[in-house]
Amino acid sequence: MRLILSALAASSLLLLSGCGKTAPGYPGPAPLPPDQIMSFTTLFHENCAACHGVSGQDGPAMDLNNPEYQAIVSSATLRQIISNGMPGTEMPAFAQSAGGMLTARQVDAIVSGIRKRWFSAATLAGANPPPYAQSKPGNVQQGQQVYQQRCAICHQSGSQDITDPAYLALMSDQAIRVEIIAGRPDIGQPDWRHDSPGGKATTPLTNQQVDDLVTYLSSLRKPAIPTGSAVNANPGEVK
Ligand code: HEC
Ligand code: HEC
Repeated sequence: MRLILSALAASSLLLLSGCGKTAPGYPGPAPLPPDQIMSFTTLFHENCAACHGVSGQDGPAMDLNNPEYQAIVSSATLRQIISNGMPGTEMPAFAQSAGGMLTARQVDAIVSGIRKRWFSAATLAGANPPPYAQSKPGNVQQGQQVYQQRCAICHQSGSQDITDPAYLALMSDQAIRVEIIAGRPDIGQPDWRHDSPGGKATTPLTNQQVDDLVTYLSSLRKPAIPTGSAVNANPGEVK
């Protein structure tokens, strides 16, 4: 093993010395000015990965690589959210026009990179999911009933108690809605038509039930944001 490693090291040294530009002691190509970077990988890594995960999943914030999420959200919505952020949440505004660091072209590069990697038109073809956005207020009592029938089995207490006001204070209604419809396969949250991620099909939640659920959960959120909570963090400080 040692031998192979040192052989590799020797050959990479040879490679290096074969090319004067990258040999130790010589400067490489000048780094691009930050507003000229157009590579999706670099832009995503530097601006998004800390919260959404290096490959768009397993981060503290929702998974962007979930194909069901990509199937219900439009490119225009993605562009809007990435440009302007989601006020009242930890999702920062990135467009220079909204006080962020990225040019409109860079935001476009991120949107098209996300779509190219994680969107497939086939994903929910024929599945008729509830729409991305809620169009009318739901009913709190009905939402509570649906919650008892469909959610409480997994969400009773402890760390998975999503009726906790302090927890709800960190999530917008839109994020709750998206997670109910598209699920979060990376953490075990099922989509609107399964009993567990990739598990058994159940009676799909209707659009009305999703409206009611979101309205119910939203009614439990305390308006006061706890001091020191993530929502209070200045998005401009987060990279
Ligand atoms: C500081 C953490 C943080 C960073 C950095 C961040 N996000 Fe977010 N993002 C969040 C959170 C938290 C949410 C959910 C907000 C909510 O509760 O609605 C979110 C939501 C989103 C959504 C909307 C999901 C929906 O509801 O439709 C998109 C799209 C998104 N982020 C994309 C990005 C991209 C692309 C980047 C990098 C350019 C990025 N985010 C950087 C924290 C972050
Ligand atoms: C099969 C079990 C199961 C069912 C049923 C279920 N969930 Fe979950 N849900 C989970 C798990 C596991 C998580 C991840 C919890 C964690 O990471 O602490 C989760 C997380 C969530 C989250 C938060 C995700 C985040 O970003 O932190 C929300 C919101 C949520 N569930 C809502 C619901 C609602 C509303 C229902 C009913 C329609 C429901 N869940 C039904 C298992 C379930």
